[in-house]
Amino acid sequence: MRGIYDRYRELTEARLGAFFTEERIPQRRLLEAMRYSLLAGGKRIRPVLAMAFCAASGGKAEDALDFGCAIEMLHTYSLIHDDLPCMDNDELRRGKPTSHVVFGEYTAVLAGDALQSAAFETLLSAPLDAERKASAALILAKASGAYGMCGGQQLDMEGEGRTLSVSEIELIHKLKTAEMIRAAALLGCTAAGADAEKLAAAENYAAALGLAFQIRDDILDVESTTAALGKPAGSDCENEKATFASLLGAEKCRELVIENTQTAKRALKPAFSDTDFLEWLADFLAGRLA
Ligand code: IPE
Ligand code: IPE
Ligand code: MG
Ligand code: MG
Ligand code: MG
Repeated sequence: MRGIYDRYRELTEARLGAFFTEERIPQRRLLEAMRYSLLAGGKRIRPVLAMAFCAASGGKAEDALDFGCAIEMLHTYSLIHDDLPCMDNDELRRGKPTSHVVFGEYTAVLAGDALQSAAFETLLSAPLDAERKASAALILAKASGAYGMCGGQQLDMEGEGRTLSVSEIELIHKLKTAEMIRAAALLGCTAAGADAEKLAAAENYAAALGLAFQIRDDILDVESTTAALGKPAGSDCENEKATFASLLGAEKCRELVIENTQTAKRALKPAFSDTDFLEWLADFLAGRLA
C-alpha cells in the first residue's frame, strides 16, 4: 500500500515540477516564489486522494493527475496565506522558511493569488472531456471559497482568544480543512465519471477523514516538535486558537481521530469494491507524525 502512495506522490512531484519554469520573463520572482512553496514537499494527500478515487471508480489513476495538481496548487496557496503575519504568523513551512520570510509579504500574497488562478487553469486544461472539467471546477470553487476553506479560515481567525464550543470548532475544521479533502475525493471520482452512489460514498469518506485529519493536526501542534513537523509546533497555543486539543485534551482527541477514521472506512462499501488502499490511507493519516 505504501508503494501505491509513493507512486501517486512521485507522479504529483514530477507533474508539479513542470509548472512556472519560465526564467526570462520580468515577473520571474513571482514564479520563483510559487515554485518555492509548491515544490517544498508536503504529503500530497489531496492529489493522492484524487488519484485513489479515480482508480477506485474504474479509471486510470493518471487521469486524475491534473485535477490533483490543481487542488495541490490551491492548497499551497492556502498555506502561504495561512502563514502570513496577519494570519497565523508562522516562519516555517514544509521544513523551509515561509514564503513571506524569503520573498517578502507582497510577493507571498501574490504567489498565493497566482497559485489559486493556476489551479483552475490546470484543472480546465486537463486532457478530459469538457463536462467533467466543468463539474470539477465547480467542486473546487465551492470547496475553497467563502462557503468552504476561506469561510473556515475566517472563523478560525475570529475564534482566536475565545473559548469555542465543540460544534463551533467542528464547523471550523469542516470548512477550513475537510471541504478541500472532500473536493479532492470528488475530483478523483469526477475524472473517472463515477456514478451518484460512488460520489456519495466518496463524500462521506472524505468528510470524516477530513475531520480526523484536522484533529490529528491539532494534536501534533501540541505534542510534536518543530523539527518533526517542518512547521512551528505550539503555533495554535501561541495564537490562542480554539482547537479540539485545547478544548478536549489529547486523549479525547485521539479517540475522535479513531472514531472518524472508522466512519470514513465504513463509508466506502458497498459503492466501491477495491477499498484496500483508501482504508490503508485513512489509517496511515490517523497515525501520521507530520
Ligand atoms: C496542512 O495541510 C494544513 C491543514 C489543513 C491541516 P497538510 O498537513 O496536508 O500539509 P502538507 O501539504 O502535507 O504540507
Ligand atoms: C490551516 O489550518 C488550514 C488551511 C486552510 C491552510 P492550520 O493553521 O492548523 O494549518 P497549519 O497547522 O498551519 O498547517
Ligand atoms: Mg491557520
Ligand atoms: Mg497555520
Ligand atoms: Mg495546525
